[in-house]
Amino acid sequence: MTDIKTILVPVDGSKGSDKAVDFAISLAQVYKAKVNFLYIANINQLAINACLSDAILDAVTKAGDSVLDKALEKVPHGMQAEAFSETGSPAVTILEFVQENKNDMIVMGSRGLGVVKGVLLGSVSQYVVENAKCPVVIAK
Ligand SMILES: Nc1ncnc2c1ncn2[C@@H]1O[C@H](COP(=O)(O)OP(=O)(O)OP(=O)(O)O)[C@@H](O)[C@H]1O
Ligand SMILES: [Mg+2]
Repeated sequence: MTDIKTILVPVDGSKGSDKAVDFAISLAQVYKAKVNFLYIANINQLAINACLSDAILDAVTKAGDSVLDKALEKVPHGMQAEAFSETGSPAVTILEFVQENKNDMIVMGSRGLGVVKGVLLGSVSQYVVENAKCPVVIAK
């Protein structure tokens, strides 16, 4: 049986990502695995180079911290969990993170904070499902 030691859960604070957090915690209980929550501040490199104001950067960082704190609060006693914050393209950053940290699987939502409705998968989950080398679960 495949040994799942660490589950990566990308979180953006949406309902879809809340479902992913719940499902990942259930899976982590079965596998006795650790959960890694990852929030990516979606600021493109151009905007960074154009020198974002400290106030904007501060607001984005705080938003991420509260999303990560909410996820950590759901973790039951005795389960290992860690929160990470990155900046960049969410889809690319999720794949880089899972590879670099050798996480064993990804659990994410089908949709996120995007406004386009009526599409089964958001662009981030679609990209990750297509390009990840590890198992990906889309929580619904
Ligand atoms: N910035 C982010 N940081 C971490 N995880 C994210 C981020 N954005 C999306 N995700 C993850 O991807 C899942 C699907 O979100 P996605 O962004 O693909 O859908 P959407 O917002 O509805 O569509 P789109 O972004 O294409 O408009 C979320 O439930 C969450 O698990
Ligand atoms: Mg989105």
